[in-house]
Amino acid sequence: MIDTQTHQRILVTGGAGFIGSHLVLRLVRDFPQWTIHNLDALTYAADLSHLAPISQAPNYRFHHLDITDVPALTELWETHQFDAVIHLAAESHVDRSIQGPEVFLTTNVQGTLNLLTLALKHWKDQPENRFHHISTDEVYGSLGPEGYFSEQSPYAPNSPYAASKASADHWVRAYAHTYGLNAVITNCSNNYGPHQHPEKLIPLSVERMWRMESVPMYGDGQQVRDWLHVTDHVSGILEVFLKAAPGAQYVIGGKNEWKNQELLREIARVVDQLLGRTPGTSAALITPVQDRLGHDRRYAINPQKIEQELGWMVQKDLRSGLEETVAWCLERAQSAQNTPKP
Ligand SMILES: NC(=O)c1ccc[n+]([C@@H]2O[C@H](COP(=O)([O-])OP(=O)(O)OC[C@H]3O[C@@H](n4cnc5c(N)ncnc54)[C@H](O)[C@@H]3O)[C@@H](O)[C@H]2O)c1
Repeated sequence: MIDTQTHQRILVTGGAGFIGSHLVLRLVRDFPQWTIHNLDALTYAADLSHLAPISQAPNYRFHHLDITDVPALTELWETHQFDAVIHLAAESHVDRSIQGPEVFLTTNVQGTLNLLTLALKHWKDQPENRFHHISTDEVYGSLGPEGYFSEQSPYAPNSPYAASKASADHWVRAYAHTYGLNAVITNCSNNYGPHQHPEKLIPLSVERMWRMESVPMYGDGQQVRDWLHVTDHVSGILEVFLKAAPGAQYVIGGKNEWKNQELLREIARVVDQLLGRTPGTSAALITPVQDRLGHDRRYAINPQKIEQELGWMVQKDLRSGLEETVAWCLERAQSAQNTPKP
């Protein structure tokens, strides 16, 4: 598998995004013998400031590049001859995919195929070189009140975002099966933690509560999500990247099922506590709005395979992870308010 003792050139795509930034920070710190190449198009979702602590590290390089730009991608690969890829670059917001699906096709599907094509071209006689595709449990569609997603769950993507990720998974799987590319796929549940873009449920709700604005809750708020702390996800990615058999697929979940309404109330409780507000102040801002089109009802993962085969275990439950996440989001909101506009 990946040799942790010798120098490796690791390409991480989407490393300026939420999960990618945590992964890059961990790789740069824990693997000084490797060079970590972070490729990112710096879309609206990126924030390079999260990588400030390692931006000058000798084993870190940043490349401002779009995975749909084949000539630039080809030149980059020829220059650096990557030994492995961890591919996170994607359009990641379901609501945006409902409003404008096209870019989800070009980035998430065509962009993935561009990377697979280059990996295959450059790694013909190097079966140890690994392509790790980061995907979502949303490719499996929606669960009823019972049961869990596992590696055996049939694909049934419901949103344009999920369809684009499912398509990318199939391309990765096909390249492993047809050409013998050493590819692995992980499908994880909803991540939370510092660095998440303010359009996503938890940071959006914290920021609106902080400003005393109404906090939208889709439909009846009874949708269930299985929350996974981003640092637990990064640990799972590394276990799979370093140890999994070629062609393997693992689901990664937080064993933390929460209804959206319960989650919003818990966020409100923590916001009130951290801001010294009268209990109930922030919860009063929660306002039901029209449900998202085609909104999936429940996601939940059974992570038995990664636990038993690779020894990964979830470390943080939502209650303990939420407080530091809310504190981080409040700090970002406050410092954004204090920063003068150019
Ligand atoms: N956040 C979650 O809860 C979650 C859950 C399951 C799977 N995932 C998957 O994990 C990966 C990372 O998710 P995230 O939440 O960090 O996303 P994010 O939106 O925070 O970050 C995505 C990053 O990709 C970059 N990017 C977008 N288009 C690009 C392009 N064409 N070329 C190069 N870079 C581009 C963006 O600039 C951004 O830095 C995605 O593949 C996503 O589908 C996320």
